[in-house]
Formats: sequence, structure tokens, C-alpha cells
Amino acid sequence: MKKLLIAMLLVATAATAAQAALKVVGKGEAMRLDPSSFPPAMKANYEIFRVKCVKCHSLERTIVAIQTGIAPISDQPFDHNATKAYGLKMLRKPGSAMTKADVKATVELMDFLLTQAGR
Ligand code: HEC
Repeated sequence: MKKLLIAMLLVATAATAAQAALKVVGKGEAMRLDPSSFPPAMKANYEIFRVKCVKCHSLERTIVAIQTGIAPISDQPFDHNATKAYGLKMLRKPGSAMTKADVKATVELMDFLLTQAGR
């Protein structure tokens, strides 16, 4: 009985973990997300993110921040309260070639991804 209970708990935990995970494809510089299960609005936002947020560094930086909840360079919290500030910080980088609308879209996406990652 105890064994069965433990087995059931393990299955429940695994199911929650799978639900809370991002679908990451590739490693390192080539790391990206699989947006196939995203709602249409987030698919559109992901396209902007995929094109605009790789000019100076790869998507890995943002994906790691979302997965860990920690911004990898500054070691600061990366949560729902921080996404807008990071978006604006990137907009202000010299040569960012982003519009405010691009930043709004990527901030929405980062918030969506944080929720997907269980944060
Ligand atoms: C014009 C160049 C440039 C563009 C475009 C750019 N970034 Fe960055 N990004 C940087 C630089 C430089 C750093 C490291 C220094 C810093 O955080 O200021 C950085 C750092 C980061 C970090 C880590 C921050 C930390 O504190 O650890 C994240 C997350 C991030 N960028 C996300 C994004 C997202 C999302 C986009 C698209 C909206 C984007 N970046 C577009 C230059 C850019």
C-alpha cells in the first residue's frame, strides 16, 4: 500500500513537472523554444522575440533566465515584476533596432513563458 502511494505521488509529481516545463530545442547559442503549442498571439510575439532578441546575444540568455528565475548576467531575480524593466533595458541598448511595440510583445511573451515554466 505504501509503495503504491509513493508510486502515485511520483507520477503526480512527474505530470506537474512536464506541464510546467518549456519546450526547449537545441543547446547553447542555438537554443530556442518550440512555439507549436502557444496560443496564436504568443506565436506572433515569439516571432518578434526570435528575430529581435538575437542581435547582440542568443535566446539562451532569456530562456535560462525564465527557467531559473535568475537573470544570468546580473544574478538578479527574473520574475513577472522584472520582465518590463529588462525589455526596456534592451530597447535602450545602442543599436537595438527595436520599437516600443516589439518590446511590449516580448514582455508579454516573457510573462507567458514564466507562467508556462511554473513561475
Ligand atoms: C542592442 C543589443 C541587445 C539587444 C537587441 C538585446 N539585448 Fe539583451 N542584453 C544585451 C547586453 C549587452 C546584455 C548584458 C548586459 C546587461 O544586461 O545590460 C544583455 C542581457 C540580457 C539579459 C540578461 C540580463 C541580466 O541582468 O542578467 C536578458 C534576459 C536579455 N538580455 C534579454 C533580451 C531580450 C528579451 C531581448 C529582446 C527584447 C534582448 N535581450 C535584446 C544586449 C542586447
